[in-house]
Amino acid sequence: MDVRIAEDAETLAREAAAIVAGLVAQRPDALILAATGETPIGLYRELARLRERGVLGTSRLRVAQLDEYLGLEEDDPRSLFGWMHRALLAPLEIDAGRIIRFTTGHPNAELVAGMYDRQVDAAGGIDLAILGLGLNGHLGFNEPPSRADAPTRTVSLDPGTLASNATYWPNAVVPERAVTAGMSVILSARRVLLLVSGSRKAKILDRLLRSAPDPELPASHLHDHPDTIVLADRDARPKGPPDA
Ligand code: GLP
Repeated sequence: MDVRIAEDAETLAREAAAIVAGLVAQRPDALILAATGETPIGLYRELARLRERGVLGTSRLRVAQLDEYLGLEEDDPRSLFGWMHRALLAPLEIDAGRIIRFTTGHPNAELVAGMYDRQVDAAGGIDLAILGLGLNGHLGFNEPPSRADAPTRTVSLDPGTLASNATYWPNAVVPERAVTAGMSVILSARRVLLLVSGSRKAKILDRLLRSAPDPELPASHLHDHPDTIVLADRDARPKGPPDA
């Protein structure tokens, strides 16, 4: 695990964008697994900027969704796909043919999960997984406990996850069921970029860096991944003295 500390959230976004742009320069049709949430917003903004300046070509870039709520209409703007569309897909002009998404309206969600894994395999696997870190150590919606071989599947969200996502659901209840790319998909990515920003993440980042791979802290499986970069800003950097 290659741990890097950026001065602030802006620097983190720029450094993350440089990593993504480097990959796309080498492999213009790279398949990127893209997290939603607050953390990657700066990165996605930066990518849009690089594209506008002609530094980043996205005409062949492919994107896979990381996770999605269940029980929503396909075009519900509160879906994670809606979020990803506004923050990333539209600004980078990634058209539908280059997107692997979860079809939320399908009556059989387990079937949808299996379809997703087959699509990722058929696309040649994930080149880069861009991830955020949940306050309980989740990746995507791989809530604790999640084993390293956990497949793409439907899950019930933790009360803490529901509480932290409630800000996106004003006057409504956060859906309790979701589908997530499995730990197995995440850990098969050729490279992982875990972004961690803000003081509220300092405690869980500290636990992650000290933990051996443990299903109770799903992100800790990244210790077994051959090419993971953890890019954190100073606010998220653990401050306590190391354990004796
Ligand atoms: C959410 C999402 C994850 C996201 C994480 C951190 O629940 N399911 O994909 O990476 O939690 O979110 P944030 O970046 O807003 O802190």
